[in-house]
Amino acid sequence: MAAESIKVLILHGPNLNLTGFREPDVYGKKPLQEIDTEIEAAAQKLGMEIRILQSNSEGVLIDTIQEHRRWAEAIIINPGALSHYSIALRDALVSVRLPVVEVHLSNVHARESFRRDSVIAPVTVGQVVGFGGYGYELAMHAIVNMLREVV
Ligand code: DQA
Repeated sequence: MAAESIKVLILHGPNLNLTGFREPDVYGKKPLQEIDTEIEAAAQKLGMEIRILQSNSEGVLIDTIQEHRRWAEAIIINPGALSHYSIALRDALVSVRLPVVEVHLSNVHARESFRRDSVIAPVTVGQVVGFGGYGYELAMHAIVNMLREVV
């Protein structure tokens, strides 16, 4: 079955605007803008309607989640460092009662020990880690599978 117009909110958290420039050996050389272009192309193929936002501000991310609670059918979020400590972001995600997929560009489990813990992970349907920008596309496929193709 086609995934007609599944509406998905895609969020990039703090410092992800510097992707491509910051620690390219860890996060890759591709700028966020290019990753977003690939996300848009994947959305078109999947028949998905998406809205993408990057913010360095926890409050803006929370406001955006709240504002999209009736529009979105699912959320894909790379919370950046907020993954490791933001109970406020976690509470916002729980509050809107939408399925959430957490994405990390790097394999957080193969890095410093503090990156292995995510306060977000327990309130998600799953995580995609370690595949760079392609992780967003994997998460989009997971959402299509979950919302439209599984009976
Ligand atoms: C990250 C991993 C986080 O630990 C880190 O703070 C980031 C990026 C990732 O995409 O690999 O900012 O979320």
